[in-house]
Amino acid sequence: MSQNSLATQFTDKVVLITGAAGGIGREVARALLDAGAIICIGDINTDGCDETVRPFLEKDKSRKHLIYSLNVASSSSVKGFIDASVAAFGRIDYAFNNAGILCSPKLLADVDEDEYDRVVDIDMKGVFLCLKYQIPAMINTGGKGVIVNTASTHGTVGDKLAMAYIAAKHGVVGLTRAAAMDYVDQKIRVNAIAPGLTLTPMIASRLADPELRGPLLSKIPMQRLAAPEEIVGPVLYLLSDASSYVTGQVMVIDGGTTVM
Ligand SMILES: NC(=O)c1ccc[n+]([C@@H]2O[C@H](COP(=O)([O-])OP(=O)(O)OC[C@H]3O[C@@H](n4cnc5c(N)ncnc54)[C@H](O)[C@@H]3O)[C@@H](O)[C@H]2O)c1
Repeated sequence: MSQNSLATQFTDKVVLITGAAGGIGREVARALLDAGAIICIGDINTDGCDETVRPFLEKDKSRKHLIYSLNVASSSSVKGFIDASVAAFGRIDYAFNNAGILCSPKLLADVDEDEYDRVVDIDMKGVFLCLKYQIPAMINTGGKGVIVNTASTHGTVGDKLAMAYIAAKHGVVGLTRAAAMDYVDQKIRVNAIAPGLTLTPMIASRLADPELRGPLLSKIPMQRLAAPEEIVGPVLYLLSDASSYVTGQVMVIDGGTTVM
């Protein structure tokens, strides 16, 4: 595939993105807007989504897009998001299921059930609900049918004091592999990214504490965090035809952290 077709293949395609009010989701949404895509972004923070698209609307007020007040942990909310996207633009071509939250740092036995449920409901069940409603919508509308889920390095290895997040992100890896196999005959591709520490609002407050920052950085061979922009290329690769023979895989983007 030529570089040119990589740059143009998202033009006028309908791309759903969750968690696009900031961080990684915002950077991916903006890259897709740059590539001419029609984006449908769902997030509990719709003001942040307005900010994500604002520079593009300033250039062209008629720019097609949809912002949806979404809670990925709610079946009716996710179904509403998918239905609204199909009603607005007639089909769904691509999806980036990226919304997520961290858990508070605690030993497993100190995690109460409410916090466990909250993290698993948003980080894992949220991805299940997105897949459950997106895949039939992609098939029924004749969309391109390519999905990327955001897992984490914590979906591939263990760590201390992050049980609920680690469990949920391993679940995202499992959901990715299962969905890829269930729908391989329908030519739907499903892959995941597993970022390492990335400088986004999610972790900014934890990194502000020098006592936490030093030990976190010392685990990274590249000795720096990822910028959210550095996660964009792998996502676009997995969405694009450049990865047409790749499905059910997890791409780790972590500066070498999980290699050591
Ligand atoms: N930042 C990192 O170091 C890192 C590392 C590995 C994986 N990740 C994953 O990347 C994804 C994006 O995180 P980020 O770092 O850009 O952080 P972020 O906090 O900037 O983005 C997360 C987004 O999800 C949204 N969100 C939270 N709960 C939601 C819900 N119930 N329904 C809908 N939207 C909801 C937030 O409003 C926010 O816009 C997450 O899944 C996160 O687990 C982040």
